[in-house]
Amino acid sequence: MPLDPLAAFRLDGRTALVTGASSGFGERFARVLTAAGARVILVARRLERLERLAGELPDARALACDVAVPEQVAALVTALLEEHGGVDVLVNNAGASDAPARAESETLGEFARVVDVNLNAVFDLSCRLAPAMIQRGRGVMVNVASIHGLVASAPNRQAAYAATKGAVVALTKELAVQWARKGVRVNALAPAYFETELTAPMFEDESSREWIVRNTPLGRPGELHELDGALLFLASDASSYVTGSTLVVDGGWTAR
Ligand SMILES: NC(=O)c1ccc[n+]([C@@H]2O[C@H](COP(=O)([O-])OP(=O)(O)OC[C@H]3O[C@@H](n4cnc5c(N)ncnc54)[C@H](OP(=O)(O)O)[C@@H]3O)[C@@H](O)[C@H]2O)c1
Repeated sequence: MPLDPLAAFRLDGRTALVTGASSGFGERFARVLTAAGARVILVARRLERLERLAGELPDARALACDVAVPEQVAALVTALLEEHGGVDVLVNNAGASDAPARAESETLGEFARVVDVNLNAVFDLSCRLAPAMIQRGRGVMVNVASIHGLVASAPNRQAAYAATKGAVVALTKELAVQWARKGVRVNALAPAYFETELTAPMFEDESSREWIVRNTPLGRPGELHELDGALLFLASDASSYVTGSTLVVDGGWTAR
């Protein structure tokens, strides 16, 4: 048999759940996982957007869920376990950011809102889906962190965003080690700046855009397709000996 190093990247027969699939990274990830052979379950709050995307992807399913509401997450997982027996790949991608502000001016309510989406929801969904993965002895989780889980966000001041993404990096390591002997791998992806709804205010502001370019050794923001390889690597058997890691896709931002 000739060597086929690309075969390990295929996801034929696997079911992949992507949170935050109604826009930005999540929509792109859903397309990439589908192209690699997976059946994709699309999750976010804006159901009409998910349904439109599901219409373009063979075998995809759209399910509305606010991942920050534990009752909705519980109902989602119950449905997934009943109808699919769980999922093979979980991409915890849904995320929010705090409005830029000096930390001392940020309210606890705003901080907590971001913690609920970016951190608590990742813990909640991962831990609800893990038992079925452990029972099968197989599962993969990819948590979308950020370079601001590794280095400060300021002067783009977003304390809750940075704190939650740092926590996602740490949670990724902890879950990876807890579940390593049970066949479940957990890794994180840490992108720098890519233009999406989340970052639109920065990309629309000339000085913010220049700040991104100035701080990126490759001299430009990322393009969505430049996450494809990293996502697929972490979601597939191509990364079978990788767990607890954070894969940085940042044009060199954190290398300085
Ligand atoms: N863009 C970047 O430069 C960048 C860099 C590093 C990391 N990231 C991370 O990448 C992830 C995706 O962000 P993006 O840039 O693609 O932004 P985006 O286009 O704004 O996407 C965010 C997604 O999260 C979903 N979401 C937000 N709150 C939710 C909730 N409570 N329940 C369910 N879904 C929720 C949104 O869907 P609904 O509104 O329909 O619920 C949307 O699909 C985030 O975790 C973000 O922190 C982004």
